[in-house]
Amino acid sequence: MSGVNEIRSAFLDYFRKEGHEVVASSPLVPRNDPTLMFTNAGMVQFKNVFTGLEKRPYSRATTAQKSVRAGGKHNDLDNVGYTARHLTFFEMLGNFSFGDYFKERAIELAWNLITREFGLKKDKLLVTVYHTDDEAASYWKKIAGLSDDRIIRIATSDNFWAMGDTGPCGPCSEIFIDRGEHIWGGPPGSPEEDGDRFLEFWNLVFMQYEQVTKEERVDLPRPSIDTGMGLERMASILQGVESVFETDLFRHLIDAASSALGRGPDADAVASLRVIADHSRSSCFLVADGVLPSNEGRGYVLRRIMRRAMRHAQLLGARDPLMWRLVPALVREMGQAYPELVRGEQMITETLKLEETRFRKTLVRGLGLLSEATEKLASGDMLDGETAFKLYDTYGFPLDLTQDALRQRNISVNLAGFTEAMERQKEEARKSWAGSGDVATETVWFPVRENAGATEFLGYETEQAEGLIQALVRDGKTVDSAGKGDAVAVVVNQTPFYGESGGQMGDTGVISGDGFSIEISDTQKKADGLFVHLGKVANGTVKTGATVELKVDHARRTRLRANHSATHLIHEALRELLGTHVAQKGSLVAPERLRFDISHNKPISPDELEEVERMANEIVVQNSPVTTRLMSVDDAIAEGAMALFGEKYGDEVRVVSMGTGLHGAKANRPYSVELCGGTHVRATGDIGLVRIVSDSAVAAGVRRIEALTGEAARKHLDEQDKRLKAAAAALKISPADVPARVEALLDERKKLEKELIEARKKLALGDRSPAGVPAENETIAGVGFLGKAVSGVSPKDLKPLADAGKKSLGSGIVVVFGARAANNARRGVAGTADQAGRVNPQHLVGGAA
Ligand code: ALA
Repeated sequence: MSGVNEIRSAFLDYFRKEGHEVVASSPLVPRNDPTLMFTNAGMVQFKNVFTGLEKRPYSRATTAQKSVRAGGKHNDLDNVGYTARHLTFFEMLGNFSFGDYFKERAIELAWNLITREFGLKKDKLLVTVYHTDDEAASYWKKIAGLSDDRIIRIATSDNFWAMGDTGPCGPCSEIFIDRGEHIWGGPPGSPEEDGDRFLEFWNLVFMQYEQVTKEERVDLPRPSIDTGMGLERMASILQGVESVFETDLFRHLIDAASSALGRGPDADAVASLRVIADHSRSSCFLVADGVLPSNEGRGYVLRRIMRRAMRHAQLLGARDPLMWRLVPALVREMGQAYPELVRGEQMITETLKLEETRFRKTLVRGLGLLSEATEKLASGDMLDGETAFKLYDTYGFPLDLTQDALRQRNISVNLAGFTEAMERQKEEARKSWAGSGDVATETVWFPVRENAGATEFLGYETEQAEGLIQALVRDGKTVDSAGKGDAVAVVVNQTPFYGESGGQMGDTGVISGDGFSIEISDTQKKADGLFVHLGKVANGTVKTGATVELKVDHARRTRLRANHSATHLIHEALRELLGTHVAQKGSLVAPERLRFDISHNKPISPDELEEVERMANEIVVQNSPVTTRLMSVDDAIAEGAMALFGEKYGDEVRVVSMGTGLHGAKANRPYSVELCGGTHVRATGDIGLVRIVSDSAVAAGVRRIEALTGEAARKHLDEQDKRLKAAAAALKISPADVPARVEALLDERKKLEKELIEARKKLALGDRSPAGVPAENETIAGVGFLGKAVSGVSPKDLKPLADAGKKSLGSGIVVVFGARAANNARRGVAGTADQAGRVNPQHLVGGAA
């Protein structure tokens, strides 16, 4: 039972049998907290259940929660590799009571599990309680039979647990095991407590309060329980090893790393191998949960973790990127418990490879600079901030990487100097601030961007999240608050709202908080990474600094996703059918339709359009998953990804692939592969249906296609069907017979028209004329004359009638006067050839009229 995977199962099983719902781990990027960097404990996903804001169908739960403690309140990054127990990524096993059992039962459940199920020796165990918590102390005495000297009272925050600056909190009680005198360290509360001898492995939190603001703490509706056991620590205890890095799971990861390096885990390499193993776990899990390396926010914490590991790989002699080679071992070890690793394996591998390839370009030179700069420094000295900043700015060395590199030589970094150098650079950047285009107000976004940093976009993973308002802008100026009816632009630290780009329209939805809500009608991107939500305060007063809930209009976004993915399918189908000269010239992905402009210099025939539609729908029906990967532009293009000419891409790009080609060169290969930052369906089947509704020319050599998907496409078909049925009903035939019948009717009509014309001609020439106009040929002043007034003859038939008159007259003048109504007179005049020049036709016609 002592393998990591078995311990996890045993824990969950124990609590399941005790009436707890087994709940899946939540993602590492918390959706329900405005400020928390990463999920750092099992209780995070239950935060609102504790406070009573959210109801769940169970009052007891148990989880194995993936957690990261790097950056933010709980940060273990600096300790990793240097102690036996610290990890940046770990699994927290927990049991929770939401107003169900409290202290006594929690202590009893914990004690029974560790002593009966896990078989820990009672005489090795000791606990801590919050110094005023007599109740907990008495339960430990009663249930576990622990003597007073094994129940240690702690007055510090170590025994009062809080998730962050706000949220549910309460006094806690920690369980420790004494690993033996041979390990340095002392019991909790002693001066040697930081040693590894006494290992804390389970924390029972008696949740009683909610920290609302820094100053205000209120009671929870009902006392609750939140516990957290470090799975890796428990594994080290049950496996009888001294550190978490010697447990089965870590041994396999470290073995994979040393074999990739071609070097055994010798004493010199141990710390580095441990850092690599730990950091590769956090990196892989973070990427699997949608975090990508970047220069700000969560992405920067990930980058710091990755680059630290990369420096250690370099230290161990790695000449090529190493981290990505550990992914298969991790997937083998943890993929079953966390299928997101299996699903994301490709994305994880490519992201690690890309980051390491890129960083290696400057790593060696940076390390050279560092050793030069510290050559003359001795233990206890300080590296100047300027050099640390240069390493950061030019060589991509996060500050803590530099600190880590100097740690063993006991050299620190002049932090004030570093900050100063950073400030100077910002000042330079400020000088180049200018509005985009002629909109003067646009300059407002630069200072906002500088203060707030880039907005973290969560919208690939979720459509709902909490955030913190960082700026409000009204009439082009930053303001502290906005009231009901105000048009306002809102900047939040993180958002699920997509900012208009790549043809896809910005998201709409609602941002709400305590006593206010803002209807968001558009989201735009400004000043390099700022997401600006544009809307109107629907009620209440909104203030900067407020915690808000951001909710994307789900139905609209669903249509946007479908239309964007369909655009990719139509694009590929057009290229396949018409040729690879077809390139995107413009695109609009709106919720109600998609518009796609392509270069193609002749009309697209209806048959071709039909074929494009059929091809796109063929992939829709496959219902294959849509995958997203992160690559360098060059790699992406080498893989055949379609890039848009003239488009500016960053160093790395998202590559969206969908469908499997069925025919020709594409058979069994990804059908559509495009560089794209947009949001897409999860699987092609979510598009529902693709329906092309129009094709037109917009400019020389540019065709415009408009199409619908899903419900809109179905409605369009429905309307067409209704029209067909109406036609069939009018004709009193079945819809299937309509085309043939319409064709027959058209033929018949043509025939009838012809017959009608003939009949009219005959009738006209033989007709008796209206008063005064002679009907027969006559001779006037020696010139033959035939005059006729006709009715019911179309203007175009007057000339043939006159010609027929000429024939019968032989020589002379013919006047045919057509009159359907007095005010609509049409005249046809003809003279035979020998009369040309003798008579003025105008006079004749005038007379006839
Ligand atoms: N939430 C508690 C902790 O993380 C159990 O230690």
